[in-house]
Amino acid sequence: MKGLILAAGKGSRLYPITHIIPKPLLPIANRMTLEYAFEKLREIGISEIGVVVGENEDAMKAALGTGEHFGVSLTYIRQPEPKGLAHAVSFAKDFVAGDPFVLYLGDAMYSKGFADLKLKFIESGCANLNLVKAVDDPSRFGVANVEGDRIVKLVEKPKNPESNLAMAGLYFFGPEIWEVFPRLPPSPRGEYEITDAIQMMIDEGKNVLAGVYTGDWFDTGTLDSFLETSFYLVDGGSRIAASAVVEGKVGEPVVVGEAAHVECESIEDSVVLPSAVVKVKGKIRHSILAGPIESDGDIIGQILHGDWKG
Ligand code: DAU
Repeated sequence: MKGLILAAGKGSRLYPITHIIPKPLLPIANRMTLEYAFEKLREIGISEIGVVVGENEDAMKAALGTGEHFGVSLTYIRQPEPKGLAHAVSFAKDFVAGDPFVLYLGDAMYSKGFADLKLKFIESGCANLNLVKAVDDPSRFGVANVEGDRIVKLVEKPKNPESNLAMAGLYFFGPEIWEVFPRLPPSPRGEYEITDAIQMMIDEGKNVLAGVYTGDWFDTGTLDSFLETSFYLVDGGSRIAASAVVEGKVGEPVVVGEAAHVECESIEDSVVLPSAVVKVKGKIRHSILAGPIESDGDIIGQILHGDWKG
């Protein structure tokens, strides 16, 4: 089985930091976001991984190389424009070459592994098995209606969800998926949705299953979720790299990356990325910072990157 990680999005919900560091490379608790994906795939015996990249291709290749350093072998696949998840996957047909594969969304993070789900996919002989998880706000996600463990209907970001089971960013596929892509129409938001491709398989009588995920799942794509994920990984406390310097009162939770330098009155509920140089006369709260940053006042609820003065 091969792995396919989608990492070609623009990361626009984390602008401006993602203008300079692609979202899949942003450090979370001092490791690049994608390192966690490599680890989870390796745990289920997958080391041959395709990474779908976009305009971030050069930066991704420079940071991840062949993947050897992370115990995986990487093949880069270029998606010319970010036109949806199914569109991104369609460029990986040659890489997958008819094998079963697991699709992993590059901004997803998980607390526990997927060995049981991989086994269920293989033993059931189904066309597709999708990780689902009950959530409070399903309208932000693809939403699955299930009967037993079969998915009978899927809707992408419905206004009035019929179930609370969100598609949780991990999908096991057999070769059947390649048959539907050429016939897939764009969605109302103009993207080629993986949920619509799976719905086509359901409509055509294929066996599509849900695997309920019992661990914690995060998507790191917004300020709130990036902070939440960072704090989860440091057990809600604070982690300041040994090579970082923080002058000022440190509350919790705070993550300060390697070689960062922070001067402030106080800092809490924030992440400072490695090597940032931050000089703030006031407080830092609920922010992601990558220096050099200077401010005469407080920084609250901000995502800021280099050479920022305020
Ligand atoms: O987070 C789970 C949700 O992910 C699912 O519940 C939805 O059904 C699924 O459509 C997806 O929704 P999002 O709107 O959150 O997807 P997003 O645009 O954030 O993209 C997910 C990842 O895929 C992200 O790492 C960027 C990458 N991507 C995205 C697009 C649109 C690509 O590589 N190419 C693309 O064209």
